[in-house]
Amino acid sequence: MTDRVKDKTAIVTGAGSIGPGWGNGKASAVVYAREGAQVIAVDRDLSAAQQTVDLITAEGGRCVAMEADVTSEEDVAQMVEQCIRDFGRIDILHNNVGIPIVGGTGEISAEVWDQQFAVNVKSMFLTCRTCLPQMVEQGAAAIVNISSIASIRAIGYPCISYASTKGAVNQLTQQIAMEYAAQGIRANCILPGLMHTPQIEHYVTSGYGGDKEEMIRKRHDLVPMKRMGTAWDVAYAALFLASDEAQYITGTELVVDGGITCK
Ligand SMILES: NC(=O)c1ccc[n+]([C@@H]2O[C@H](COP(=O)([O-])OP(=O)(O)OC[C@H]3O[C@@H](n4cnc5c(N)ncnc54)[C@H](O)[C@@H]3O)[C@@H](O)[C@H]2O)c1
Repeated sequence: MTDRVKDKTAIVTGAGSIGPGWGNGKASAVVYAREGAQVIAVDRDLSAAQQTVDLITAEGGRCVAMEADVTSEEDVAQMVEQCIRDFGRIDILHNNVGIPIVGGTGEISAEVWDQQFAVNVKSMFLTCRTCLPQMVEQGAAAIVNISSIASIRAIGYPCISYASTKGAVNQLTQQIAMEYAAQGIRANCILPGLMHTPQIEHYVTSGYGGDKEEMIRKRHDLVPMKRMGTAWDVAYAALFLASDEAQYITGTELVVDGGITCK
């Protein structure tokens, strides 16, 4: 532990994991705690958030679980209120929640399109909008939004709604960065490439319909480094952007993809 975010209060949304192993949100919560932050692990599945809390407290870190669906304005308001009441400040807002639904233009229904935008974009708008007044009062804070390289590239299979939501995340982040730069608030996003997380097993391979092992092999093979990344790669990028080491960085898109977007 080198205390890179010592005594900062960090909200991590989607801090549990959809399945066994390390999701991006869970690893990020653990890394913030290891580096000295007090973490609020938010998840609509309280037991998933509690597993993250248990991991962190077992290591001697500080973390509490909070149940909230971040697509709900009411839940987000309660989450922020409770955070300010219990911890007095919000230094880091890490928006991890996002679901990847695979499908092309002819396959995605209007309902799925709306669901993707609610979970992947509206959630981030709501959390940012609700945290910002406190952040402005403090005069300093960092927002880290989890986007995807699908926001800037075709990633090998159709995902029209997912890619569109992540493009919106990049713009949402830039708009906030510009609006609040003079008030000491930084907003950046991370564009993970093909990461090997429980979410991939849960959504992407199931939506694909073909041989799952073959798809996993293909995902490894698509990367110039010949392997998918891990949740820790996303977590360490987030740690940097959230820390004071990145104090002159705002409105950027940090690609974490083993080189795919150079191809
Ligand atoms: N794995 C990859 O290859 C990859 C690539 C690029 C981007 N990403 C991004 O990473 C993020 C997901 O990372 P993860 O591995 O932690 O995912 P995950 O699917 O494991 O989800 C983490 C948690 O989010 C919670 N959650 C889902 N919807 C919620 C809601 N509405 N309110 C509150 N909690 C909710 C789930 O209960 C789960 O515990 C997404 O934004 C995704 O787009 C992943």
